[in-house]
Amino acid sequence: MTEPYADRLRRDTAQRGCDTVLSGVRPASVVEQLAAIRAVAADDLLPDFYGEGGPVEELERRIGELLGTEAVAFFPTGTMAQQVAMRYGAELTGLDAVGLHPLSHPLLHERDAYAVLGGLRAVLTTSAPRNPTAEEIAALDEPIGTLLLELPLRDAGFVLPGWDELVAAVGAARRRGARIHLDGARLWESAVHLGQSPAEIAALADSTYVSFYKSLGGHSGAALAGSTELVRYARAWRHRYGGNLFQQWPAALAALAGLTHELPRLPGYVAHAKVVAAALATLPGARVHPMPPHTHQFRLWLPHPAEALNAANLALAEDEKAWFVGGWRDTEVPGVALAEVTVAGPALELDADQVVDLADRFLRRVAQR
Ligand SMILES: Cc1ncc(COP(=O)(O)O)c(C=O)c1O
Repeated sequence: MTEPYADRLRRDTAQRGCDTVLSGVRPASVVEQLAAIRAVAADDLLPDFYGEGGPVEELERRIGELLGTEAVAFFPTGTMAQQVAMRYGAELTGLDAVGLHPLSHPLLHERDAYAVLGGLRAVLTTSAPRNPTAEEIAALDEPIGTLLLELPLRDAGFVLPGWDELVAAVGAARRRGARIHLDGARLWESAVHLGQSPAEIAALADSTYVSFYKSLGGHSGAALAGSTELVRYARAWRHRYGGNLFQQWPAALAALAGLTHELPRLPGYVAHAKVVAAALATLPGARVHPMPPHTHQFRLWLPHPAEALNAANLALAEDEKAWFVGGWRDTEVPGVALAEVTVAGPALELDADQVVDLADRFLRRVAQR
């Protein structure tokens, strides 16, 4: 179920007007976004034409450098890019089974597109709220054509394996004859915890998808990176899926701006997330996971109903121009709600004491309800 747009508009307007923001970023206006893409466009730059030339080609080149792959294709969405990667694995191996985590994006958020459109079948890799271990992959009941690893696993709390665990899991899948696809929607910020560059991480896999509108703050869009053969296939299937847009230069320019301005700042956000998480963990009845966070995002639970927390956050923003954390949802434990916290640019202005002060103001409003 999606919320009414009017509610989102009210929330975005309130967050945009805040002097202090702990979680997330102030939503940029259309004019601000136009200025950001204007700033990275040369005066004589021409648009792309069905994915050729212009900022789209420049973006594919930059991603190829960053991920160290032979080739890259820009996609309008990660949902589409990953379907193509999974079906490529099925074609090469003759196996329509994909190793997927039950909390992975294709299983939770894509209306079963991998099965309905791609004709693929999920083999669940583990029921634990983390990526599968080498032992779990070795013990799978059925052969798989592709293993999809989501780095980090968002719906388990943005959790990452350690580098050695990741290498071992990949090795176990390869020994079973599977190809490896990385869901790297948040690969950029995963590099810190894994202690490796994006290129070293992508080198583990046959294909890697990255997103441009999450931590990089672009408009939309994704890239699928891998071998020249994979990318030729990806371009053909992107066309078939209706993803070969006439022009995509605004999204590509926004992605290029994100690579220039946000990518270098991500390690700082990841470091500060540890400070913010430790401060939030001191609140009465609070739980934080993972502790310390693996990226600049983590989960926070508070012992109050989601409705009270969302209302208090909005009131604090509208009355005092201070944004704590939004997007609360109830959990299976009555009276306990959960939110995802994103430590980005605005949170860098807050030290641990200021985080606790802001939380106190927020909790006073919750108590008043
Ligand atoms: C982990 C993960 N994978 C894939 C996607 C799909 O990306 P898109 O919205 O570009 O289809 C998302 C989007 O939220 C995601 O979080």
